[in-house]
Amino acid sequence: MKKKLFLGNWKCYLSIEESISLFQQVSEFQTARYDVAFAPNHLALHPCSRIPSFAALAVQDCYVENQGAYTGFITPQDCASLGVRYCIIGHSERRRLALETDTLIAQKVSAVLKAGMTPVLCVGETKEQFSAGKSSEVIALQIQKGLYGISDELVARCVIAYEPVYAISKNGNGVSITRDSANAMFTYIQSLVPTCGMLYGGSVNPENLESFMEIELCDGVLVGSASTKFESLRTMLSLAF
Ligand code: PGA
Repeated sequence: MKKKLFLGNWKCYLSIEESISLFQQVSEFQTARYDVAFAPNHLALHPCSRIPSFAALAVQDCYVENQGAYTGFITPQDCASLGVRYCIIGHSERRRLALETDTLIAQKVSAVLKAGMTPVLCVGETKEQFSAGKSSEVIALQIQKGLYGISDELVARCVIAYEPVYAISKNGNGVSITRDSANAMFTYIQSLVPTCGMLYGGSVNPENLESFMEIELCDGVLVGSASTKFESLRTMLSLAF
């Protein structure tokens, strides 16, 4: 059976030096349990790519073009040339803070696939949408629009990360949704895109990791805050000395 994926999203929690140090520390341990990848901040990506590691690299975002007058962006080609395997796309923090639209997100999915990386398309409803009973509708639209124009063959290479916006922790104080709620959403997502891998994200930590990994339809987790501390990583990955 395929190993499940543990994808750590370090956001801007760690400085460049801290990112290098954590990536280095983790790379020195073995884990047979999961496929592991980390997404350091953009500036730490290059130095981390020079560290031999059992863990793969991911990037937190990238642009749709590979060359030209695009001030401040980073390109899919550059990320791929560093050996980056996964690209997180459409994270709720980027939808909210960088005003990313579904149209741009679909272009990014396509560009990331073209560069040979695996797109991890983030979808998730807000608390208000959840309370209004609109979760399924919101998720279906985000998936439909985020994968717009992608062939069936390429859709099968995409991963969907279901991250309810209200479950994402800020400074580690968030509360995850229940395993049953996650399972219900995975069942729904699978009915929409049966060939995609599916991750759960939102306040995953050493206490609840197993309960999500045990869900049959769940192919892994996207972990923010709890993946930025060595001790909790060691527990979650059962790292061996
Ligand atoms: P969290 O973040 O684990 O800190 O809740 C997850 C994410 O936003 O990807």
